[in-house]
Amino acid sequence: MCGIIGYTGPLEAPKILLEGLSGLEYRGYDSAGVALCMEDSHIHLIKKAGKVKNLKGHCRQQISGSSHSGIGHTRWATHGGVTDANAHPHRAGKVVLIHNGIIENYHELTEKFQLQDRLISQTDSEVAAQVLNELYSGDPLDAICSLIKLLDGSYSFCIMFEDQPGAIFAIRNVSPLVAASTSSGSMIASDLTALIPYTRQYFVVPEQHIVKLTPYKVHVYHLDETFTKDYPEIMTVNWNMDAAMKNGFPHFMLKEIHEQPDAMRNTILPRVNKGLPDFSDDGIPDSIFESCDQVQIIACGTAMYAGMVARAIMQPVLKIPITVSIASEFRYEEPLIDKKALVIIISQSGETIDTLAALRLAHQCGSKTLAVVNVKGSTIARESDYVLYTHAGPEIAVASTKAYSVQLAALYMISCRMALVRGKYTRDQACSFLSDLLDVIPAMETVIAQKDFIRNIASHMIHSTDVFFIGRGLDYAFSLEGALKLKEISYIHSEAYAAGELKHGTIALISDQVPVIAIATQEHVYAKTISNIREVKARGAYIVLLVKENAQVDDSLADIQLRIPNVDDHFTVFPIAAALQLIAYYTSVSKHLDVDQPRNLAKSVTVE
Ligand code: AGP
Repeated sequence: MCGIIGYTGPLEAPKILLEGLSGLEYRGYDSAGVALCMEDSHIHLIKKAGKVKNLKGHCRQQISGSSHSGIGHTRWATHGGVTDANAHPHRAGKVVLIHNGIIENYHELTEKFQLQDRLISQTDSEVAAQVLNELYSGDPLDAICSLIKLLDGSYSFCIMFEDQPGAIFAIRNVSPLVAASTSSGSMIASDLTALIPYTRQYFVVPEQHIVKLTPYKVHVYHLDETFTKDYPEIMTVNWNMDAAMKNGFPHFMLKEIHEQPDAMRNTILPRVNKGLPDFSDDGIPDSIFESCDQVQIIACGTAMYAGMVARAIMQPVLKIPITVSIASEFRYEEPLIDKKALVIIISQSGETIDTLAALRLAHQCGSKTLAVVNVKGSTIARESDYVLYTHAGPEIAVASTKAYSVQLAALYMISCRMALVRGKYTRDQACSFLSDLLDVIPAMETVIAQKDFIRNIASHMIHSTDVFFIGRGLDYAFSLEGALKLKEISYIHSEAYAAGELKHGTIALISDQVPVIAIATQEHVYAKTISNIREVKARGAYIVLLVKENAQVDDSLADIQLRIPNVDDHFTVFPIAAALQLIAYYTSVSKHLDVDQPRNLAKSVTVE
């Protein structure tokens, strides 16, 4: 997710762009840049790794003279490291461009236009700029129309042409853009936070339409370059800045739960090559998957629970020891790993101190390390031998949601690649597995759409002092994360138990109306799980049952049940995760708690 802003009008552009970028930094903040159309029509580019504050300093030093139009960008890196060269805007001849999204076919375009020797960055965005410049012969609309016919993927572009002073062009496909014509000039941005200080009226840039900003008018064109007769509806925003950053959602957590399907696509799609997982762009060689004789997964909290799910998926296929360790424990053990072990480090922030210490210990043991990290350029990412970045965008809520889903997506792809290169999967099996992974995204969307029903489930939790999550096999691994989600934002004591283990003591805690959230999506242990549910039901438990649509359930068993779409048993974690996140979210909201910043917690635990 990146922040985009454009302005043209009577006011000084640098101030508007830089203030707008500060408001957009929550969308991504590893580098930032502006392109300014100066009085002599030259486009002056300033872009730096680091936060907007850093860019502001360089602008103060470098800008001399006046500018009344320009574009600005804060980057959440997906392709290429955190460097000045990879920051946006990107210049190619007369074209200057900023981009939010992922161009999936940038390799093919690089070859088609023979750009290899011209590129100065590692980004898909620069490829788009170079191709647009190749297509440009003085007519911006014509060149942009030709460009987008060549692109696969998601994008919102803001574009300036050196010979079109004062004009800004934009187009979007999936990635968001809003625009406004105001008394202060014309503006465009990736979301409302940049527009709110100047206007309450705006419109959503319609997909596959080109907009042209001139100082006092925003023109909208169809792709056939005719003016659109149906100008977009002008909307009125009644949010304050904080609400705008939540894009209209009441809390970041709910926004981020809804972002999961796109985060999954952004993490998976750039790594699909002819139907197979392909990490070559990530610089991850197959050799680390082929030669290892064990896999050690190390993380904390939600990331560790993602590791538990990964273990349940990987071990039966790879038939080598897959161990999951709590980082704060691992770092004080004498681990049985060596140069033949592959250590997978999972961390959203890439800064968790216990996880970082475990990474360093793994290196001392001579093991190869592969990090699954969401924040580009973070310490764990930089110190690992290899890194597979997830593309969830910034996760603001302390309770991890979309980061968990994309961690799982990355781990599932790693599992698939490992199985393929070790001969455990044929190409067809690997393609089928990856296809199933992509197919599960609509199932998540289906569950998220049931949020009002799930809110009703949560209403049965709010007066409880104890809630138990039970399941067998993969369902048990899912339940661990469900219990953490609920306890950390509702402050209700929640525990996850292997359903078959309850009888060995914990069932003593089950009494009348104690909620038990039972997950029963694994066919091979379904009957046993149902038996365990009957055991707690017999002791008065309030049963919340999560099953697949086609499950045969005795009506008298559950007090309330949520059915998820019939996805393959190996993939039910994704819709189940969305359901458990929403149960936790609505329980916390019903208790009027601080959902995004729960007591005692921090987003990144950088202390031991
Ligand atoms: C999850 O909801 C918590 N915020 C916490 O358990 C978190 O997952 C853990 O601290 C690990 O953080 P990391 O992924 O940034 O390393």
